Amino acid sequence: MQAIGLNVTLRAMRDSDVTDLYEMYNQRSFRDGTLALPYESFEAVRDWATPRSPRDLHLVAEAEGRAVGAAALRPFYGRRAHAAEFWIGVNDGFAGRGIGATLLSAIIDTADNWLNVTRIEMTVFVDNARAIALYRRFGFEIEGTHRAASFRNGAFADVHCMARLRPGGVR
Ligand SMILES: CC(C)(COP(=O)(O)OP(=O)(O)OC[C@H]1O[C@@H](n2cnc3c(N)ncnc32)[C@H](O)[C@@H]1OP(=O)(O)O)[C@@H](O)C(=O)NCCC(=O)NCCS
Repeated sequence: MQAIGLNVTLRAMRDSDVTDLYEMYNQRSFRDGTLALPYESFEAVRDWATPRSPRDLHLVAEAEGRAVGAAALRPFYGRRAHAAEFWIGVNDGFAGRGIGATLLSAIIDTADNWLNVTRIEMTVFVDNARAIALYRRFGFEIEGTHRAASFRNGAFADVHCMARLRPGGVR
């Protein structure tokens, strides 16, 4: 998949990406779309970027010599080993150019065809139209809504829980 007007390379995340991720973590749209706080520390971002398990998949999209987007797939264990949570972020300066789609496509391909993860799930703020459009395009559906799930910029905000089941893969 080709991002618009950019030469994008997907690769595994490296320790040296934390500086670029730290910049993204402290951007306004990233904060509005995620649970990031203002003034996230470098150490907190580095901690997030450290895989919890060898099963975790952490990817970055590299363009113009730096990480401009990142995504993670974190499979669960035991009777939920077929399921995974998912996370994605794109640098504000590179949003809307297909990088999210490029990352999500790679995450889904790895889940479906390499990890045998058949359910990918996440929560998304109900007003995050761009993310919801992206997820729907890749087969995610809204399964329900958590009310007042988090506090954001002075008010409680609802989130949808969304999931994608691998076509033909769960029954
Ligand atoms: C959500 C996010 C990952 C999307 O990445 P991106 O690179 O901007 O996404 P893409 O350019 O690949 O695709 C965006 C899609 O949303 C659509 N879109 C853009 N703005 C939109 C809007 N205001 N309303 C509805 N759809 C919109 C685009 O048309 C595109 O859909 P299409 O490919 O079917 O045309 C990115 O914007 C981001 O990091 N946001 C901040 C953090 C965040 O919200 N993360 C998700 C937490 S659940």
